[in-house]
Order: sequence, then C-alpha cells, then structure tokens
Amino acid sequence: MIELKKVTIAFGSNVVLRDIDLRVNKGEIVTILGRSGCGKSTLLRAAMGLIPIASGEIFVQGRRVDDIKERDMDEVRKTMGMVFQEGALFDSMTVFENVAFALRRHTKLKEKEIREIVNERLEAVDLEGAEHKRPDQLSGGMRRRVGIARALAMKPDILLYDEPTTGLDPILTATVVELILKMRDRYGATSIVVTHDLEAASRISDRAAMIHDGRFIAQGAIAELEASADPDVSTFFTIMDRRAAAGNAKQGRRPDADA
Ligand SMILES: Nc1ncnc2c1ncn2[C@@H]1O[C@H](COP(=O)(O)OP(=O)(O)OP(=O)(O)O)[C@@H](O)[C@H]1O
Ligand SMILES: [Mg+2]
Repeated sequence: MIELKKVTIAFGSNVVLRDIDLRVNKGEIVTILGRSGCGKSTLLRAAMGLIPIASGEIFVQGRRVDDIKERDMDEVRKTMGMVFQEGALFDSMTVFENVAFALRRHTKLKEKEIREIVNERLEAVDLEGAEHKRPDQLSGGMRRRVGIARALAMKPDILLYDEPTTGLDPILTATVVELILKMRDRYGATSIVVTHDLEAASRISDRAAMIHDGRFIAQGAIAELEASADPDVSTFFTIMDRRAAAGNAKQGRRPDADA
C-alpha cells in the first residue's frame, strides 16, 4: 500500500532521512519511533506528497507519487487521511465544518448524509456536542481528536497518524488506540503511526521501525526492539520506559498496574 525505496530527504544542507526503505502492506499498522527531530513527521509528510524528496521513490497503492502532478496527487490523497501533529485544523471553521471538509470537497453526499457521518466520527472521538465550536475554543486534546475525526471522515484506505495520543489522558488514549485498531479491523485500513507512547505502540503495531541519524536502525515487533542489543535502540527504550514509569507514578499508578 505504501512503499518508500531509498528515500532521501534534505532541507538545504540538513539531510534528515537517508536511503529509507519502508514497505507497509494492506491492513498493517506500522509505528515509527525515534527521538524528537529525527524525521518522523517528515517521513509522513513525504508519503502524503507534501514535501519534495531529494532522491528515491515513493509509491502509494502501487502508484509512484514523488514525481506526480499536484492534481493527480489530489486524487491519491482522497484515499489517504492524515492526523497532523500540530492539528492543522481550519481555524475559521467550526469543528463540524472541519470534519465535513473532505466530504464536501470530494463527494456528492447530501447534507443529511454528511451530518450523519460527521456526528458518527465526532462521537467516535468522544466529542459529541462540540460541533459548533471553533478550534480556538477547544483544548489541545480536543483539537487533536478533531484532527482524528477529520482524517477518518472519508474512511480512507491509508491513515497516517502523527502522534495521535500526545496530550491525551489515559482514557482518551485508550479510545484512540481502539479507534486505530477499529479502522484496520472493520475497514482494512493501512496505517503508519508516529508515536512516543510505547504502550500504545505495542498495542497497535504489527511492526515498528526506529529512526536514528536519518536511517532505520531497527525494525520488528516492539518486544524485539526492546530486547535489541543496539546501544541507540536500547538507550531509547530505557529512557522511554523510565519516562512512562514516572508518568504512571504521577497518576498514582504503579508502572505495571494495568499489565
Ligand atoms: N519544512 C522544513 N524546513 C526546514 N527544515 C525542516 C522542515 N521540516 C522539518 N525540518 C527539519 O527536519 C528535521 C526533522 O523534523 P521532523 O519534524 O520530521 O522531526 P520529528 O521526528 O517529527 O520530531 P518530533 O518528535 O519533535 O515531532 C528537523 O531537523 C527539522 O528542523
Ligand atoms: Mg514530528
């Protein structure tokens, strides 16, 4: 469904990703891990055709997209949904209009059908009742969930989630994890999820890949990565585990309380 072949991306002299190879098959959920600034969002944006690549090839559903015309990419994007890290909501539109945006733009659905879909998606992210608010009237976690509802609106074949659970409380995190799994189980969606949440990652991913110094230094099940002897991989997991333990302690839970 998504394939990156030897993709290199640079911003000026800053080479962010080097010779990245990644293949995500239909119905798979792959998580991307790595330190802040390592290029995770860049990878998703490239898959969405939002930034140019220096070399390599990107295929979406078998179609090469890195050198595609913008109008053709628009067609491809109809089958993709992206949850942007920074939300990227339209500030002048209500929550309802944000979620309805792609449905209005790409389909000929009647108003009543659009309303049903939007309400169903908002309910799925626990936001019923917020449809008339504007993004600047929402909390960060609410905006993130509007972003998720908007990405899911068209029931896309491919979903790219950039830190979908960051800033959400444990209950909402669980809701979002269930939603990501449901999109796969019910609609066969193929997903790439960027996350710092190792617990969520191990629940949702078939496979994880870790970026370090512009390359994938490890790919496999989260448990395999956790057991990796590579010092860069094990350092990442040790620090993340410690942070998760500290977070649990803050919430008055033992790290293994819900194991
Ligand atoms: N549009 C851009 N122009 C110039 N540099 C950019 C641009 N987008 C990203 N970068 C650079 O690319 C690198 C990777 O950024 P990216 O946002 O992909 O990191 P990330 O892994 O998503 O980090 P985080 O976990 O903090 O979200 C950074 O050095 C960043 O400064
Ligand atoms: Mg990012």
